[in-house]
Amino acid sequence: MQELSSRHLLGIKNITENDIQLILHTAKEFKEVINRPIKKVPSLRDITIANVFFENSTRTRLSFELAEKRLSADTINFSSAGSSVKKGETLLDTVNNILAMKVDMIVMRHSSPGAPHFLSNKIKANIVNAGDGTHEHPTQALLDAFSMQEKIGDLAGKRIAIIGDILHSRVALSNIFCLQKLGADVRVCGPKTLIPKYLTDLGVQVIDTVQEALAWCDVANVLRIQLERQQLKYFPSLREYSIYYGINKAMLDALEKPIVVMHPGPINRGVELSSDAADSNHAIILDQVENGVAVRMAVLYLLAQKN
Ligand code: CP
Repeated sequence: MQELSSRHLLGIKNITENDIQLILHTAKEFKEVINRPIKKVPSLRDITIANVFFENSTRTRLSFELAEKRLSADTINFSSAGSSVKKGETLLDTVNNILAMKVDMIVMRHSSPGAPHFLSNKIKANIVNAGDGTHEHPTQALLDAFSMQEKIGDLAGKRIAIIGDILHSRVALSNIFCLQKLGADVRVCGPKTLIPKYLTDLGVQVIDTVQEALAWCDVANVLRIQLERQQLKYFPSLREYSIYYGINKAMLDALEKPIVVMHPGPINRGVELSSDAADSNHAIILDQVENGVAVRMAVLYLLAQKN
């Protein structure tokens, strides 16, 4: 049996194309499983997984929890709000106390970039990064790639535009690493103040206007403006942002060829996407959420094989 090259999933940067293909292939099998009348398999029976969330989440947290239950794992959920973190307990002490309860795997979201990498050098359990600050969100990139493949097939040579707040987005960075490894041409579009300079080193070109980006791409992955991470004013107002970078259904209908519109959620309706675009036939936003469960089942299943 094929296996992953690492016992953790900390990011897409440090995994191989083979790892990505193995996860996507395994996810396809799990998607078939979760669409059966009996959606549960015994693959992770006797494995205990802690979902440790130091930052808010709806999709990722519920998706991991459901993936764990579908695999018959035992799960516990920790949220920093209402925990002893508020009394000053450190990240390492918190996680070591969770592990003392015989936990095998940690799924962690944290606002500090590198927090899961730090833990991976200190503890024995497998770690899955469920989003570390502005750094990486590997399972989001994997479910995005899976959803794109379902819609447009092999991603080699396909044109993917990532549009919006690239600077603060862990989804953007993980998408770039993942899609480039799968052979796609990835470009970004957004206000110059929200485009990080290191993109040139990654071989990612910048498209100036959203109209050009939509006309160029096969898939537009539209990102949220992350006001909660913005310490400065990067553009004059949300109204101005939506005028210059917002996407509506009329723009999509006017394109010469159909494109796929994606969004990792949560959506700022009326800012980066109008409601008529988000709810249109162009968008596969809820397919992404559905696929997230299968992709996370694949990740947890494959990591458990490494023990
Ligand atoms: N896409 C995503 O990470 O959403 P949540 O923040 O709700 O988990």
